Amino acid sequence: MPAWFENPEFWRAHFSRLFTQERLESADGEIAAIEKLVGLRPPAQVLDLCCGPGRHSVALACRGYAVTGVDLTAEYLAQAAQRAEAAGVTPQFLQRDMRSFRMADGFHLAINLFTSFGYFRAIADDAKVLSNVFRSLKSGGVFVMDLMGKEILARCFRERDWMESNGTLLLEERIVDEDWSWITNRCTFIDDDGRRDFSFSHRIYSAQELRSALLQAGFARVSIYGDLHGAPYDHRAQRLIAVAHT
Ligand SMILES: C[S@@+](CC[C@H](N)C(=O)[O-])C[C@H]1O[C@@H](n2cnc3c(N)ncnc32)[C@H](O)[C@@H]1O
Repeated sequence: MPAWFENPEFWRAHFSRLFTQERLESADGEIAAIEKLVGLRPPAQVLDLCCGPGRHSVALACRGYAVTGVDLTAEYLAQAAQRAEAAGVTPQFLQRDMRSFRMADGFHLAINLFTSFGYFRAIADDAKVLSNVFRSLKSGGVFVMDLMGKEILARCFRERDWMESNGTLLLEERIVDEDWSWITNRCTFIDDDGRRDFSFSHRIYSAQELRSALLQAGFARVSIYGDLHGAPYDHRAQRLIAVAHT
């Protein structure tokens, strides 16, 4: 039985909610913020791990970086390739699983954005991903992660939300369990074609848990922020950003 993240139908059903026009357009600003946060300038080699439909890969390539986008979902990679072609850039896109993708000494920067980590039941698989990234970075390389941190989730948690978009109603119900280490989201889509259910679940990391996992993977130093502009990770933080140095 494939896991939820291996199901292309899941990503198809969630595309319009995950990747609104606003979110697609926010990618270039996020890349500008990351450049400033880590002091990176083109030309450098960048890994966009779990690149999805390529919004950051294309923004990076347009700024002159040599980009490799890695993702499991063929349909998203096809969209990424189309987006790159329309922008007149040529990032490399690879269909790979983050648990096994590794390119020794390949990159100056790796990014993993928009909660694209923690999907695996076995925590050892998360550790494998971090170790793969560590080994894929050059000496002096940096890894930037952007997650919904446990502290933020606890502050903003809602058991259920109703949403409506283009005539489709969506009910999202959430359960936190395993001592605040795991969240399960049950999504019910209701439209003229009937009703479809999808569940997705993932590990939730606190700042200190993520820092420990990155140090365990071999990174020498980890800074934590509350957004990509370097705000503190405090009671107002919007995201959990980790910047890990090799
Ligand atoms: C929430 S989306 C984020 C996409 C992108 N980082 C962005 O910000 O637009 C998560 C992505 O992770 C990909 N993904 C899920 N499991 C994966 C795996 N095991 N290996 C590689 N990619 C995976 C999905 O296909 C999806 O594109």
